[in-house]
Amino acid sequence: MSLAGKPPPRRKKKGAADDEVAEEVSSVEDTAMAIYLLCGSIAFWFLWRQFSTSKIELRELSYAQLSVMGGCCALLCALFMFAVPFLRRYGGNAPYLATSEAALEVVLKLCQDISKKNPNAKLVDLGSGNGQLVVEVAKQCGLQCEGYELNWILVVASRLRAWAARPNAPATFHWRNMYEAPLQKFDIVFVFGVPEIMKKLEKKFDAELQPNALVCSNQFKLPGWTPVQEEAGVLVYHRD
Ligand SMILES: C[S@@+](CC[C@H](N)C(=O)[O-])C[C@H]1O[C@@H](n2cnc3c(N)ncnc32)[C@H](O)[C@@H]1O
Repeated sequence: MSLAGKPPPRRKKKGAADDEVAEEVSSVEDTAMAIYLLCGSIAFWFLWRQFSTSKIELRELSYAQLSVMGGCCALLCALFMFAVPFLRRYGGNAPYLATSEAALEVVLKLCQDISKKNPNAKLVDLGSGNGQLVVEVAKQCGLQCEGYELNWILVVASRLRAWAARPNAPATFHWRNMYEAPLQKFDIVFVFGVPEIMKKLEKKFDAELQPNALVCSNQFKLPGWTPVQEEAGVLVYHRD
């Protein structure tokens, strides 16, 4: 593997980057949750005021009133995908935040190199979010790709994305816990988690990954492994 042997780049302070990203992820979700609660309260107040204190029916509402209610409902649906992982965060799981374009480019480049040597290589994204990384790798590198995701809204969005990219994107999405993924069959594992996840996953990687498999972690380190490459926040590990 051409990546092996490179010393890991030095960091200013151990754990500092992890903390900064965790803080960024948390603040995105905290803001989304605050908007979610605000919109929910407005929608509830509006509905309660209209239907419990008066005898007004839905068809009697003005366009302005219907727009406010419709807008609140649409925002509630959009923010639902943040609300569920927000609560899940307290169980030690990662909230939803998409990988940056720069990090995606690093993974694509790595996968293109691997596909030239092994066109049958398989990638899995543990916590696949909106499926962008999985579909892009499948489409641009021709690798068989799978995603494991707990948030069903994101799984539906991912399947639609894969469907839109058919037939050139061999991508499959599972609405399942990432810890249930059978890692033996994968050559590349991608994860954008949180430190708690990385600790648990490290044990799973030690137990299940085949020799020469690669782990790409966006932002967060595997506590006991040494990266062979680090670029745009993506840490690449090689399973000996
Ligand atoms: C930071 S996002 C990363 C999304 C995507 N991999 C990307 O890089 O754009 C983490 C995702 O992991 C999902 N997740 C968290 N814990 C999980 C678990 N135990 N099993 C499956 N998915 C999980 C969350 O719902 C969220 O969508």
